[in-house]
Amino acid sequence: MRNATATVSALLLLATSCARTSNDVSPGDTAHGRAKAPDLGEVMVQVGRRFEIAGRAAVANRFDLAAFEAAELGELFEDDVPSAELPKEGPTSHIHGMADAFLKTNVPDLKRAASMKDPAAFRSAFERCAQACNGCHQVSAKGFIQVPTVPGNAVPVLDPMIDPGKAP
Ligand code: HEC
Repeated sequence: MRNATATVSALLLLATSCARTSNDVSPGDTAHGRAKAPDLGEVMVQVGRRFEIAGRAAVANRFDLAAFEAAELGELFEDDVPSAELPKEGPTSHIHGMADAFLKTNVPDLKRAASMKDPAAFRSAFERCAQACNGCHQVSAKGFIQVPTVPGNAVPVLDPMIDPGKAP
């Protein structure tokens, strides 16, 4: 019985000290107390999803949704891409400049086209965006991450390749 009481108080002590340690760290912080920026790859997963939904929304004539996704895409490029951890493999020195150009030219272009609610205007803005996405992927030695140039398709492209040995 005395043993059991000792175990319980030891456990309580442990629980309290754990609680105290985790209280010292705010949400989003690492154990070292500094928030770690997300990897560019994680931000890109969100970029891909937003771009895919923008395209599918426009195909479905849901232009308000397309405009919303285009604006969210802009926020990712404005708030998250500049501070993201860059990939450890492949060239990276072009990334900030190209991302900034994408934010200043392609994002407003896509937003404008969505707000016009004009399918043809949207298709061409979407195509220009996808070319910019693919341009950066190619320079980053990530050309295998292909962004479709036509709205309504999955991002990235997952259609079967005819010749698996051939680069895109
Ligand atoms: C300024 C350069 C740049 C631009 C512009 C860019 N990307 Fe990327 N993207 C990258 C890099 C670099 C990676 C690889 C990240 C890594 O190695 O983790 C990547 C990865 C991705 C991935 C794969 C994510 C994963 O880990 O599964 C997707 C999807 C993607 N990008 C979509 C897009 C789309 C859609 C656009 C345009 C709307 C776009 N990207 C524009 C640089 C860019």
